[in-house]
Amino acid sequence: MIKVGIIGCGGIANAKHLPALSHQAHRVEIVAFCDIIKERAEKAAKEYGTPDAKVYTDYKELLQDESIRTIHVLTPNVSHCEITVAALEAGKDVICEKPMAATPADAQKMLDAQKKSGHILTIGYQNRCRQDSLTLKKMCDDGELGEIYFAKAQAIRRRGVPTWGVFPNKALQGGGPLIDIGTHSLDLTLWMMNNYKPKSVMGASFQKLGRLLQPGDQGNTMGVWDPNTYEVEDSAFGFVTMENGAVIVIEAAWALNTLEVCEALTQLCGTKAGADMKDGLRINKIMYDKQTVIKPDCRTPKGVDFFAGASAKSAEDTECEAFYDAVEGKGSPVVKPEEAFVVTQILDAVYRSAESGQLITF
Ligand SMILES: NC(=O)c1ccc[n+]([C@@H]2O[C@H](COP(=O)([O-])OP(=O)(O)OC[C@H]3O[C@@H](n4cnc5c(N)ncnc54)[C@H](O)[C@@H]3O)[C@@H](O)[C@H]2O)c1
Repeated sequence: MIKVGIIGCGGIANAKHLPALSHQAHRVEIVAFCDIIKERAEKAAKEYGTPDAKVYTDYKELLQDESIRTIHVLTPNVSHCEITVAALEAGKDVICEKPMAATPADAQKMLDAQKKSGHILTIGYQNRCRQDSLTLKKMCDDGELGEIYFAKAQAIRRRGVPTWGVFPNKALQGGGPLIDIGTHSLDLTLWMMNNYKPKSVMGASFQKLGRLLQPGDQGNTMGVWDPNTYEVEDSAFGFVTMENGAVIVIEAAWALNTLEVCEALTQLCGTKAGADMKDGLRINKIMYDKQTVIKPDCRTPKGVDFFAGASAKSAEDTECEAFYDAVEGKGSPVVKPEEAFVVTQILDAVYRSAESGQLITF
């Protein structure tokens, strides 16, 4: 059995990683849990751990356990680098939550540690594993869209400010919606385009609503936030040119007065066809001189009850399975760290451009 250690036992641990790991029970067992809030680690250990699972409040102590082979890094953004580097140096394979890091310098340290250690590092961009994403990726790789020269990376909430954890805390998260959800849509977009060579970035960010809207006047879908401790942007936008001339527009918001809401989507325009994911996957092209829209049915097929393989896997199960296949030497994880590094570079450039008003070139 592959022995697993969990670092960070909060929202994403309980919503994604622990349930997904429970579906890999034939080859993994979770033997160690760490959280600076001990009760969270204890609760997760009780629910998902082996009977003798250990509980820690210091991740460095957990990493000393040589029997542990893989680490899931599920802590706030700014700590991803330190914990991931330490885990790789301790000889573990690592899946770290998105975004890879808060800065390119930190992401570079993670890449260096991965190369030096020879261990696996992947980043939790599970949106790549949705059925619509997997279908669109195949179409892109098969050339169905032709050359993709314009794209939008979209993650826009009308009112969706996360109110658990430390999300509006700049020092711990590195930023707001751009680094939190814009990161998913940019990752999807670059992956679909298979283009990781940015040339320049112009960005703008706003903090118009986070500090302004008082409890009782927020209409938030995720509880009430405290405007007095709201430190990050509430929306951000980027205009990215790529070395080959292609352009990507990034739109990210936790709060924006718009009805055009969407989460972790990409829109692609190629020479042969276009695609968007707003109303399910839609391909637009000209067929027999007619403007045509094709809508592949990407819902999880239900199949026939009781027969193995009847249902498609969830995104988080697919991500987890690919990671453990890679750990067993049977393939690659879904996300390469070099790809997540470029996402971090571009998002950092949007922030720097927004702050300076200048064009950032690579
Ligand atoms: N893939 C996704 O769609 C997705 C969704 C939500 C969050 N996330 C990512 O997951 C990460 C955590 O977010 P969350 O929503 O679970 O936040 P959270 O606050 O609910 O959980 C984080 C946990 O880490 C613990 N922690 C903080 N510092 C620690 C340390 N040094 N050592 C051990 N434990 C520590 C906290 O006490 C907390 O319990 C973030 O990077 C976030 O971007 C990803």
